[in-house]
Amino acid sequence: MTGSVSISLADLRAEYTQSGLEARDLDPDPLRQFAKWFEQALKAGIREPNAMALATCNAAGQPSVRIILLKSLEEDGFTFFTNYESRKAAELEANPHGALNFAWLELERQVNVTGTVKKLSREKSEAYFKTRPRGNQLGAWASRQSAVIPDRATLEARMAEFDGKYRGGTVPTPPFWGGYVLAPLEIEFWQGRPNRLHDRFRYTRQADSRWKIDRLAP
Ligand SMILES: Cc1cc2nc3c(=O)[nH]c(=O)nc-3n(C[C@H](O)[C@H](O)[C@H](O)COP(=O)(O)O)c2cc1C
Repeated sequence: MTGSVSISLADLRAEYTQSGLEARDLDPDPLRQFAKWFEQALKAGIREPNAMALATCNAAGQPSVRIILLKSLEEDGFTFFTNYESRKAAELEANPHGALNFAWLELERQVNVTGTVKKLSREKSEAYFKTRPRGNQLGAWASRQSAVIPDRATLEARMAEFDGKYRGGTVPTPPFWGGYVLAPLEIEFWQGRPNRLHDRFRYTRQADSRWKIDRLAP
């Protein structure tokens, strides 16, 4: 055993007083409700309001989680881009269920989404890749995301290699890179309230594609 760590945070707590959420405030469509809250997060100046935690789970039931960026929201769901050989991709291959969490703490809000995940069409992935800065495009080629590497120099050498390879031309989309869409089955909106009596509303997708809304205990 080496040294031990002990951090006591019992006195670190915030009261949530900014606003409340009532059933009458909710849009019947959770994606429109999400768009409304997202707009408010943008207006509030939250840094990277499109940053979200993505939880995936391997076939053995072990979950893993990481932050990624939401790149679009359309009728079919939440789109993000990543490496198709990464840990998250392997887990999604084995188990195409995922969960997202947006934490907009400055607004005392979180949104939780669960659903099923599919690869985005190749055309859409390539169309998005083309809009990325060249450095990011090269970075996608250079990094075998989630693989063990010996040192940073190895990464930089690969970056230089692809920089040379595609000098003066467009950088093609790596075959191992692209988007996923998480189609929501449940979306929960959480607004912090005093005394931990927070407001929570969960939308659940019904068989007829309509959404049922329930208030949950905090
Ligand atoms: C703010 C932020 C945004 C990120 N956005 C992405 C992203 O859009 N796509 C991505 O693949 N990784 C993104 N990452 C890196 C991931 O958190 C993660 O390290 C990487 O995807 C490898 O995850 P995995 O090994 O679990 O597959 C982001 C990290 C942070 C902190």
